[in-house]
Amino acid sequence: MTVVITIDGPSGAGKGTVCQLVARKLGYHLLDSGALYRLTALAAEKQGVDFEDIEALASVAAQLDVVFKPADAGVVVELCGEDVTRAIRQEHVGMNASKVAAIQPVRDALLQRQRDFAQAPGLVADGRDMGTTVFPAAPVKVFLTASAQERARRRVLQLQQAGQSADFDQILSDIEARDRQDTERASSPLKPAEDAVLLDSTELTIEQVQDRVLELAASV
Ligand code: C5P
Repeated sequence: MTVVITIDGPSGAGKGTVCQLVARKLGYHLLDSGALYRLTALAAEKQGVDFEDIEALASVAAQLDVVFKPADAGVVVELCGEDVTRAIRQEHVGMNASKVAAIQPVRDALLQRQRDFAQAPGLVADGRDMGTTVFPAAPVKVFLTASAQERARRRVLQLQQAGQSADFDQILSDIEARDRQDTERASSPLKPAEDAVLLDSTELTIEQVQDRVLELAASV
């Protein structure tokens, strides 16, 4: 049996870190579905595709030549053989990802690719619609949130630790804009599955969130 644990929520709630920790602890596979939308946005940018051209964007998504390579420090992401692990994390790529993610044919093109990650013994799936659309039958579903202020604070800290400058107000307004874009779209909007457990990480440490998810997984 393949157990699927879905963790959905807005950007910056800690999903990425928690998913990696839980996957490692349980020896499960990991799906970073946001990376697929980021890769679609980056590939479209590299190919000079018009972001209004729905058909062309869907074809970019369908033809993504991507490899996720497990590494000591996380996962190395390659697009057409080029290491784009850092490139896909740029702010503008995140905004473009959010734009292409609102296009239903793009989502359709990525659906099976995401489902293929569900392999024994299990999968931890990180995203916005893992519990609602991609893995609706998953036995463990978590919706992880945190206040926009707290998410902006964490992002500033992350950038500062990476030696980059960070403007809190700008980051907060970007986060709020992306939340709006993700929750108000018609296709697979960001929302908890009806059977998801809601977890607010604003006042929790990453270990506390991890332990809660492991508790849920143990009860399956
Ligand atoms: O999680 P991450 O910030 O990397 O995702 C980038 C963008 O991809 C999100 O803002 C969201 O619009 C989109 N996304 C999505 N569905 C998913 C994962 C990400 O629409 N399952």
